[in-house]
Amino acid sequence: MKREKILQNYKPSGDNLLGILHDIQNASEEHYLTDADLRAVADYLGLAYSFVYGVATFYTMYSLEPRGRYLIRVCQSPPCHLLGSTTISRELMRLLGIGFGETTADRRFTLEMSSCLGVCGVAPAMMVNDQVYGNLTPELIAEVIAGLRRGK
Ligand code: FES
Repeated sequence: MKREKILQNYKPSGDNLLGILHDIQNASEEHYLTDADLRAVADYLGLAYSFVYGVATFYTMYSLEPRGRYLIRVCQSPPCHLLGSTTISRELMRLLGIGFGETTADRRFTLEMSSCLGVCGVAPAMMVNDQVYGNLTPELIAEVIAGLRRGK
């Protein structure tokens, strides 16, 4: 969805800042916010650009740098940690050949750590874009990554 259309979905109130940034970033194929996005949001909400920039850089869920087509966020909160998120993280780094905070050279995958994804009942868990994967094992990770590489 185009930025202008997203803005029209919200009343021009500062309370909507986080939601608007979230929707614009989600609509970006590279999962990031451009400078033009921040300026357009600031104008629409009647906020200072520096304030919007400050918010976008404060929260780790927002990025001002292009990320991969598949944004993989691995939960590192205690329940997932206790149930094996370290093993899952290691396996993802091995399969993708990148560390956390990095993007593959073909710009397909970005690996990030996340706090609780709200699905602790299926820990350890990760999200790939908007899709949640739970009860992760190294075997399941390999299947998911192979599927994404095939474009599934
Ligand atoms: S602790 Fe991992 S999803 Fe809640």
